[in-house]
Amino acid sequence: MGIFAIAIDGPAGSGKTTVAKKISETMGIIYIDTGAMYRAVAYYCMEKGINPKDEAGVLSVLPEISLKIEIKDNRQLIFLNGEDVTLKIRTQEIGKGASDVGTILKVREYLVDMQRELARKQSVVMDGRDIGTNVLPGAEVKVYLFADVGERAERRLNELRLMGIESDIDEIKKQIIERDENDMGRKHNPLKKAEDAIEIDTTRMTVDDVCGEIIEITKKRLGEAK
Ligand code: DC
Repeated sequence: MGIFAIAIDGPAGSGKTTVAKKISETMGIIYIDTGAMYRAVAYYCMEKGINPKDEAGVLSVLPEISLKIEIKDNRQLIFLNGEDVTLKIRTQEIGKGASDVGTILKVREYLVDMQRELARKQSVVMDGRDIGTNVLPGAEVKVYLFADVGERAERRLNELRLMGIESDIDEIKKQIIERDENDMGRKHNPLKKAEDAIEIDTTRMTVDDVCGEIIEITKKRLGEAK
């Protein structure tokens, strides 16, 4: 089998990361979390006291940012100027910041180049907002995941709880709606389903069922369906 790519897009909390990780483990291919790259840029700006919405401010520090992705035990680690920030960037606040820096074209161009380079030499499952539409338009499999906002908020609440962070469900729901609007409404490569993507509503579906469906589709596409 040659090199192939599975592109998974969808709004916050639709299950992309969990599903993509599991597919990577099952199929033995690399998982690339593009959201982590936007989060790392936002983290750097916020540490410097720059508002992620301040385009001129963000662009003034962009040349100082060096990101490195390392794959260890099939997990993606992200290094920001040599520091491992993989866990630090998982907060809701940085998620919102990432959504804001993601509206800036130059930030997107910088990160998209890195993302394409990573998919050039190896098979990947990559998740984000614009993977099927822009980063890897030739991906063999494109999937668009979505779910009810209530369920997405529950998932995020549980994820944060696992990290020891207690949050308010209504506040999370509000943040998710805001983030959807920001990601779908931006000018450059907004979140939208690629025309040739398969839509899966993950509300009330198990992770195994969603992965099973995507793996089946992939095998068929690659001409390996048993
Ligand atoms: O998937 P995530 O929650 O880690 O992503 C954080 C934000 O980063 C998301 O709200 C928008 C931005 N993002 C993007 O603009 N394009 C991507 N391919 C991935 C993320």
